[in-house]
Amino acid sequence: MSPKRKPFIAANWKMYKTVSEAVDFMREFIPLVKPVGDAEIVIAPAFTALRAVAEAAKGTNVTVSSQDVFYEEKGAFTGEVSPGMVKDSGASFCIVGHSERRQYFHETDQAVNLKARAALKAGLGVIMCVGETLGERKADKTGEVLTRQLEAGFKDIFTGGEAKNIVLAYEPVWAIGTGLTATPEQAEEAHIFIRKRLAGLIGEQAAGAMRLLYGGSVKPENIDSLMACPDVDGALVGGAGLEAESFAKIVNYKRKKGP
Ligand code: PGA
Repeated sequence: MSPKRKPFIAANWKMYKTVSEAVDFMREFIPLVKPVGDAEIVIAPAFTALRAVAEAAKGTNVTVSSQDVFYEEKGAFTGEVSPGMVKDSGASFCIVGHSERRQYFHETDQAVNLKARAALKAGLGVIMCVGETLGERKADKTGEVLTRQLEAGFKDIFTGGEAKNIVLAYEPVWAIGTGLTATPEQAEEAHIFIRKRLAGLIGEQAAGAMRLLYGGSVKPENIDSLMACPDVDGALVGGAGLEAESFAKIVNYKRKKGP
């Protein structure tokens, strides 16, 4: 991680936790991360718990994200939730393009782009996910897939104001929920590749300022070595973010001593 970029550590709760379980987590978690002033800490609960988690986070160093968002402002779209609604619930971010949404809900690169743009327009920060499957990695297609996802995801998103509200999460699909983590070398290599591609899309400066998160089986045991990589600026955490103590350990990863 570079001192230029503020670390960003987010827990994606997926389809776990009722409202009361979410509030219990926050009660336990907030005191454990209270002294942390050098990182952004984000919790992404299900839509149903957004408001309660945002209330519990008020006045603390923790902020809230949704796990998805729709790209229309309002209308007859049964089951969908607009960026304005997410913002109104007290969240400041939304995740778009998570591989589970791409895989199980057929979310396309184009939909990811529309969602990101609608969210930015509504004043939400965006956590955009990209990543290759095991088959794609084995076929040596990682670069190709990441390039396609980035080019489509960042279509009509320009440097300056817009890109600075985006955080990019590299999540190799083969590492999500499998216990298999990318090695720090694999993560760093992909992050360097992504930053180069981003520079071509949004400019060198905006790409240099963007936080690139690693996601896929991040745990208290591997966060230190991942965060020691110069281009890993944070983490998107699934399973290990469901328990207050383990997520707090991740947030409290070992900081490097200054020069
Ligand atoms: P995991 O999930 O940490 O359980 O692998 C990561 C994610 O899906 O964001």
